Amino acid sequence: MPILKATASANSNIAFIKYWGNRDESMRLPVNGSISMNLAGLETCTSVTFSDLRQDDSLTINGRPTTRAACQRVSVFLDLVRQMAGINIRAEVTSVSNFPLGAGLASSAAAFAALALAATKAAGIELNEAGLSRLARRGSGSACRSIQGGFVEWQMGGGEADSYAVSIAPPGHWHLVDCIAIVSSHPKATGSTEGQALVGTSPLQAIRVSDAPRRLELCRNAILQRDFGALAGIVELDSNMLHAVMMTSNPALFYWQAATLTVMQAVRTARAKGLPVCYTIDAGPNVHVITEAAEAEHTVGLLRSLSGVKEVRKAYVGGPARVLSGE
Ligand code: DP6
Repeated sequence: MPILKATASANSNIAFIKYWGNRDESMRLPVNGSISMNLAGLETCTSVTFSDLRQDDSLTINGRPTTRAACQRVSVFLDLVRQMAGINIRAEVTSVSNFPLGAGLASSAAAFAALALAATKAAGIELNEAGLSRLARRGSGSACRSIQGGFVEWQMGGGEADSYAVSIAPPGHWHLVDCIAIVSSHPKATGSTEGQALVGTSPLQAIRVSDAPRRLELCRNAILQRDFGALAGIVELDSNMLHAVMMTSNPALFYWQAATLTVMQAVRTARAKGLPVCYTIDAGPNVHVITEAAEAEHTVGLLRSLSGVKEVRKAYVGGPARVLSGE
């Protein structure tokens, strides 16, 4: 069999309404839908080379071989692709990201979206966006939202077949910017897969989940109407509810650092004075501060002036995952 190779890239995304908890962990079928914005420039580029000369799958991230656990997760994912393509050969996977991994910047989202596209292309399978989103979801839930560009909604679906992300609006619909206040770029102690396995222990999770359809609708409408005030209210509420669940899990998960709270408070104060800004935080200490493009420089300046903020990265609304080369 010839060597089958392809390279693809995908952006990370920031969830406005968060995914946290699965009703089926191995299939990654979530307990609630989620909404996100694709992040231009927070990108992972992945090459997959299937070759019958290989004994095992291998994984290199940013030029370094990875842990067995990371390679195993990729191998399990590649099994899905091998099954679809009817092939039984191993692959070399090399992945390069231009942002800190495992620090709450949704690195697994960009990684599995790029992998889904590169691996299917290398294996000679053509999937449509829904099919790619379903496949990426099996690697990491949030990855299903990085296949499409712009603003997307992962519909929880009734089962495996209809749990994938759909477009709410294309990138040019609303010129929002995510100004990411990095307070730490160290990998977090508890990854999101491990953290989510604890959701059932928080008494607040049931309330967060039952209220999700309401939050999804408010967020979807705020995006469609470009209503920043409405977006800010629902995005911050959703992030606060997520962290309330995390903090009341057993064992409790605290992803914030002191500087995380400093940024949250500064954002609230600035909004009260009229600046269109709101915060949202994933499973890590870094704070995603959403604003409108006209206020991006001002917002970056404000965040840089805060104690404990090491760096601020700016990400505009990004486009879809794309194939860079395929042989
Ligand atoms: C807090 O998609 O990383 O960022 O499916 O186990 O890989 P796995 O989890 P992951 O969880 C993301 C959690 C979140 C919220 C979100 O992005 O919706």
